Amino acid sequence: MQKPAETAVPLHEPIQERWSPIAFDSKPVEPDKLISLFEAIRWAPSCFNEQPWRIFVAISEDAESYGQLLDCLVEANQAWAGKAPVLMIASASTKFARNGKPNRHGPHDVGLALQNMAIQAQSVGLVTHMMAGFDIQKTRHTLQIPEDYEPMTAIAIGYPGTVEDLPEGMRERETSPRSRKSLGEVIFTGAFGTSSPLIEA
Ligand SMILES: Cc1cc2nc3c(=O)[nH]c(=O)nc-3n(C[C@H](O)[C@H](O)[C@H](O)COP(=O)(O)O)c2cc1C
Repeated sequence: MQKPAETAVPLHEPIQERWSPIAFDSKPVEPDKLISLFEAIRWAPSCFNEQPWRIFVAISEDAESYGQLLDCLVEANQAWAGKAPVLMIASASTKFARNGKPNRHGPHDVGLALQNMAIQAQSVGLVTHMMAGFDIQKTRHTLQIPEDYEPMTAIAIGYPGTVEDLPEGMRERETSPRSRKSLGEVIFTGAFGTSSPLIEA
């Protein structure tokens, strides 16, 4: 199913079309497409080009690695993400490699990398759904993540499924409209809370 963004002007198509479905087809993702997602991550910008992202990936054919990631998700996410053929968990370095000082942009840069990936995925026919709902301690332990990295986000990736394949209790969520704040609520000029006049232009 498609739920394109309603916008004042047209957007770059994969941005317009991207959304976070819970219905996935279990069809595997071709290796070349997976590599294109990794490259999209790799070529994201980052503060001092530190590339603070470290990303775990597992495909459903590799039951052990896939189970590791799936087990880290909260039950509400496992309920739908377990059908996606690819799972990822992204972590962020909390320190700059260059001087050991705290890197407050680490989570920001991981977000850039993941959105780069989401747009690349969308442009090759895949869908993505990011998740905060996973057990951080379990993830740290299972994946042996060192202390100076912070588990940030889990992601389900695959081809779109159909609403009918979802259990009945999940269908409404899939078909309900997407919503956003208005431009005036988030784009300011001059002072916090003052909508930019450019919005009306
Ligand atoms: C960092 C992050 C964490 C999220 N966590 C979850 C989650 O645990 N479970 C879930 O179903 N959706 C999760 N989402 C999806 C958001 O709910 C979704 O992106 C938001 O409602 C906007 O919808 P859209 O992506 O379809 O535009 C998360 C998204 C992001 C970016």
